[in-house]
Amino acid sequence: GDEPIYEVATFYTMFLRQPVGKYHIQICTTTPCMLCDSDSILEAIQNKLGIKVGGMTADKMFSLIEVECLGACVNAPMVQINDNYYEDLTPKDIDQIIDELKAGKVPPPGPRNGRFSCEPAGGLTSLCEPPPGPGFGVRADL
Ligand code: FES
Repeated sequence: GDEPIYEVATFYTMFLRQPVGKYHIQICTTTPCMLCDSDSILEAIQNKLGIKVGGMTADKMFSLIEVECLGACVNAPMVQINDNYYEDLTPKDIDQIIDELKAGKVPPPGPRNGRFSCEPAGGLTSLCEPPPGPGFGVRADL
């Protein structure tokens, strides 16, 4: 629609010059996250909290800004909330995360799709065997 998606257009900076909520949500919408549907995560946050990018909830619990790449593209889409990264998100995940924060708990950071870190979602395709020991491939007479 014609409705602007930003409440505060000048919010995009590493230096926060306006107060933020107790939980400051930074959603990455740069290309890799966008291709993994960060739009649906942004929409879920906005709908759940009733705020737009640059906004803060009336109780000052949550603020939301949109940021450029946070360096976790391999776990896209992702958000940073205070010091924690939440990765491999679905709208349901971010809904649960916000609910837990509202309940005073800090959900465990990291991927939400069962990955330990940033390993391939379909399992390893290379470097699958244990590495050979020292001297592997060296001439026997040496
Ligand atoms: S593009 Fe989102 S973390 Fe890099």
